[in-house]
Amino acid sequence: MTVTAVIGTQWGDEGKGKAVDFLAERVDYVARFNGGNNAGHTVINEFGTFKIHLVPSGLFARNTVGLIGGGVVIDPAVLVEEIDLLNKVGAGIEGRLWISPRAHLIMPYHKILDGLYEEAKGAGATGTTRRGIGPVYADKVSYNGIRWSDFSSNMFESRLQMQLELKNKIIVALGGQVLKYEEIRDTYREYYLKVKPYIRELFSIVQDGLKANKNFLLEQAMGTFLDTDWGTYPFVTASTTIPSAASAGLGIPPRYITNVIGVTKAYTTRVGAGPLPTEILDTESEIYKKFGEVAATTGRTRRVGWLDLEIVKTAVQLSGVTELCLTKLDVLSGLDEIKVCTRYELSCDPVRYADVDAYGLDKVETVYETLPGWQEDISKARTFDELPANAQSYVKLIEEATGVPVKWIGVGPERAATIRR
Ligand code: GDP
Ligand code: IMO
Ligand code: MG
Repeated sequence: MTVTAVIGTQWGDEGKGKAVDFLAERVDYVARFNGGNNAGHTVINEFGTFKIHLVPSGLFARNTVGLIGGGVVIDPAVLVEEIDLLNKVGAGIEGRLWISPRAHLIMPYHKILDGLYEEAKGAGATGTTRRGIGPVYADKVSYNGIRWSDFSSNMFESRLQMQLELKNKIIVALGGQVLKYEEIRDTYREYYLKVKPYIRELFSIVQDGLKANKNFLLEQAMGTFLDTDWGTYPFVTASTTIPSAASAGLGIPPRYITNVIGVTKAYTTRVGAGPLPTEILDTESEIYKKFGEVAATTGRTRRVGWLDLEIVKTAVQLSGVTELCLTKLDVLSGLDEIKVCTRYELSCDPVRYADVDAYGLDKVETVYETLPGWQEDISKARTFDELPANAQSYVKLIEEATGVPVKWIGVGPERAATIRR
């Protein structure tokens, strides 16, 4: 039995979707345990190119059973779309995707409130995806949430009515429009009927799987530094993103987690507000354009920076990462020199990530090591030995700094463009 958590070691978008897609070939269960459709996981395989938001990215592997845990928050419209899409492209997920009745639903007022709060905060906004994530988790922990199970216990209508009374008052106070009960009730009932065949309590599925020595792959959404507690609060997301969240979010006892794969992008990106110590600010520079990316969920431009080893090292320590999957090494090809931040200083003294808050992180000095680059196109390389010596040195520097082996190296976006060591 293996229970492997796949986590991003930076600020999200490390390439978790691609990693889970290729790792899924060898497992029985693929699961999401946190976050919602704020996630955008890119998968490129024989079925096509997908930006997956809710269902586990490993569902394309026919041998897998997909689980969406109670820790996930679900916009039913997005879920229905994804279920339809995967069935349409031939991934055949009927009978092999199970969604926890404990999962909370993102309601129209969550999305509206997300936007209204962001606008009210003005320059101090978080830069959320506006998918309703903060408000739905706030409702979950303040006992105001609506779950799939509310349909089967006939509580949906009364709970919705009660919530609308509350939420309409806040929405109107913030300048929004009143939401109509009947409209939401009917739409959500329709969603429920479509999703109903996939809703099933996960407790026995997970327990039986563990007992039968099955292999599980747990797909984190967001990255380590968007975690509510350990991220750059308040510039974070509303869920716990570190592997311990899989325990509550899925019902996997912590001692059963055997491996933690840290997915690390060869440079750093971030979407939304918050500190990014190695950020490249010159948006006209060659580097900025080279590293430039468009966010999979919102289409926003991702902010970019050099690889920050203090960040990756902290993630490795925090989550007990056992091996790394380095992604996008191919993007670094063609640079004369590559900068890597090896540590931070504050007033000339060494300082760790965990010693400062988000505002302090904005003030740290980043100490860089400059490595020689390589000019070769590495996208066709499939073994470590085929990589230019300077690319190999880059990988080795990451291994030395973090103390864990780099077992996979991404050299292109498609599933096959991966070096396995
Ligand atoms: P996720 O949220 O962690 O799943 O990552 P995203 O899918 O949001 O962003 C990662 C981006 O990098 C996507 O566009 C992927 O297709 C792409 N990608 C992943 N791995 C590689 C790689 O090794 N090389 C290249 N060039 N692109 C990659
Ligand atoms: P994946 O799983 C990158 C960021 C948002 C914002 C902050 C809070 O694809 O790596 P939220 O909508 O969650 O309330 O926004 O978190 N964010 C992500 N950034 N990748 C993600 O997911 C993200 N999910 C949320 O940009 O800064
Ligand atoms: Mg993403």
